[in-house]
Amino acid sequence: MHWHRLALLLLLAAACCAATPTSNHTSQYEASTQRILDMATQRMLRIWDMRRRIFLQLTSKGKSPLGGQAPSKQEVETETYKLAYELAANLSVVPVEQLQDPLLRRRVQRLAKLQLQGLKPDNYEQAKDLLRAMQNFISGALVCSNDDCSARRPLAMYPQLYNQNMHTKLYEDLKLNWFNWRTAINDKDTARSTFIDYVRLLRIAATYNGHVTPSRTWYLYYDTENFQAEMEEVIWEIMPLYREMHAYLRHSAILAYPKANFKDDGAISAPVFDQMLSQAWYSHQIFRTPFPKDQLPSVHHRLEEVLVTPVKINNKAVEFFELLGLNKMSNNFYERFLRRMNDDEGGPDCKSQVYYFPPDVAMRYCPKPNYKKLMQTHGTMAELQYNLYKRELPFGLDTEPCPGFAAALGETAVLASGTPRHLHRLYILLNDSLTENQSLNRLFRMGVHTLLAVPQYFINDKFLVDVMDGRIGVQDYNCAYWRLQDKFAGVQPPIWRTARDFDLDYKFYRGLQPERSNTRKFISEVLGFQFYRAFCLASNQYKPGDPSYPLHNCDFHNSSEAGKMMREMMQLGASKHWRDVMFIATRERKLSGRGILEYFAPLFTWLKERNRQLELEPGWDADELCRKE
Ligand SMILES: *[C@@H]1O[C@H](CO)[C@@H](O)[C@H](O)[C@H]1NC(C)=O
Ligand SMILES: *[C@@H]1O[C@H](CO)[C@@H](O)[C@H](O)[C@H]1NC(C)=O
Ligand SMILES: *[C@@H]1O[C@H](CO)[C@@H](O)[C@H](O)[C@H]1NC(C)=O
Ligand SMILES: *[C@@H]1O[C@H](CO)[C@@H](O)[C@H](O)[C@H]1NC(C)=O
Ligand SMILES: *[C@@H]1O[C@H](CO)[C@@H](O)[C@H](O)[C@H]1NC(C)=O
Repeated sequence: MHWHRLALLLLLAAACCAATPTSNHTSQYEASTQRILDMATQRMLRIWDMRRRIFLQLTSKGKSPLGGQAPSKQEVETETYKLAYELAANLSVVPVEQLQDPLLRRRVQRLAKLQLQGLKPDNYEQAKDLLRAMQNFISGALVCSNDDCSARRPLAMYPQLYNQNMHTKLYEDLKLNWFNWRTAINDKDTARSTFIDYVRLLRIAATYNGHVTPSRTWYLYYDTENFQAEMEEVIWEIMPLYREMHAYLRHSAILAYPKANFKDDGAISAPVFDQMLSQAWYSHQIFRTPFPKDQLPSVHHRLEEVLVTPVKINNKAVEFFELLGLNKMSNNFYERFLRRMNDDEGGPDCKSQVYYFPPDVAMRYCPKPNYKKLMQTHGTMAELQYNLYKRELPFGLDTEPCPGFAAALGETAVLASGTPRHLHRLYILLNDSLTENQSLNRLFRMGVHTLLAVPQYFINDKFLVDVMDGRIGVQDYNCAYWRLQDKFAGVQPPIWRTARDFDLDYKFYRGLQPERSNTRKFISEVLGFQFYRAFCLASNQYKPGDPSYPLHNCDFHNSSEAGKMMREMMQLGASKHWRDVMFIATRERKLSGRGILEYFAPLFTWLKERNRQLELEPGWDADELCRKE
């Protein structure tokens, strides 16, 4: 036992027995627990103050408004880790079952268990280093074209190769980029061995919580036996729709790359699959949309006329939530805490950032107005609203109930703000609905984005967890990965691979960062559609079975019913189990594919019919292209 845990145990024991012999243990324990938490809250206040100073420094154009240098992000991170680590140790001796106050008990339960932060300082530093090294696989300039590094500067996977792949019309280029990046990062087994080192630390972190099965720590906040099974169920639920989409896209790929000589096994080659996903937002699609003659009306021009500045976009997003009956943003917020990012910051696709330092919340927004930003800003505003509610809760409960929950709520606003109905409200579209053909085009593009991504989040998550728990052996990593791609996605490597290769994609490495995990992405999409469905039913804009009120054109605008659900969920923070919180809106306590299936129902009908006409058989029966040796 750690020395200070022991010290505290003695302290608690002393407190109890020094009082009258018949003393009430519960109130004693509660009082001493409260003292520990109060002290921790004081320290958290200091960390919030550091964050506030960082925000102020960033937004004061170099001048330091409070005097002195603001702390670095690194310092904030270190202080946060120290607090979490010490606090968990101090709380680990609290007899939780003796606490009667349910909120107090829940705070202790959540703060006494840790994920990566349960590692000792040197291990924690090492984990951070490994994460940085693996992020460098993505953004480091590592890939030379044609093995020739002298001729041109090497390229990074993201954004350079990613952008190349998005635009190219040559399958050979896609394949080469696919191969070169994997060769570059796994030179001398680097990618695989870095990953193995990281998994070792994840396993150590799990022992902190006494978990024999490491994934229980990875899924800590889902608080569910075998959470993976629940995610897998969703995958099978949406599989019939996925298979139709897959068959249609495979057909489009054959048309787009007539010379590629794809195998006749029904699977999609990985580089082509990646390109399909990356094209979700791109207007010059290489793969055919259902009705090429009925292009979507261009919103770009009107958007620039109507929402000239990013400030106008912000205002519209703020208004969206105010009309739902959520917080009104104060003048103080506009004057002091809403700031524009610098033009050179974050590149052409910068993402707005939300800051949390109670009693205030702040936001820095990306100054580039376009359709995608319009939608994203609505998502960011949801996060801001969430922060305004959860700051009322005691430290430890002022978070989302499980990772991905807040993003799922954001997703509903993203979906709503992109509907023709909503764009019409903003005077960007002339009509509040599209023609049937256009509507299918739109659903199709949304479908490529969502339906292809969700199984990939699952595969990446499952691979990590199965490795962590020892269900996949070291010698089998690569082939096991391809078996998952085959089983859940119908994706194949473009060439023969071996057990010595390590073919995971860049999103896998990105998802190793806890705050961007593939689990979180999965939840935010799936739960996001579940919430969206619930809000749309509540607002009466979605009437199942009535084609005049389809789910995909609902913006639950000005709906106090939807707003009430959203507010109640946000106000609870982490004070209840996520299943109890989601129940408020969905009336169910489980993840389900229902939101996705109902949203894409017209697309599903169309795909089945179209695939039948084209005599495309959904599904795949691919040979394994990975050799164990
Ligand atoms: C002990 O104190 C708690 C809180 O003050 C109270 O709810 C509980 O009923 C008490 N138990 C006994 C046995 O007195
Ligand atoms: C943990 O307990 C030790 C010993 O009582 C104390 O010095 C320290 O401040 C506490 N830290 C936290 C974060 O509770
Ligand atoms: C709007 O779209 C609907 C359905 O496509 C159509 O019936 C109607 O005429 C359109 N209205 C305008 C003003 O274009
Ligand atoms: C939809 O597209 C199909 C195929 O291009 C075409 O035959 C049909 O007339 C279109 N429908 C409408 C209402 O324009
Ligand atoms: C919102 O709804 C209320 C009452 O339901 C109505 O009075 C108001 O005009 C609506 N506002 C907008 C902007 O639609």
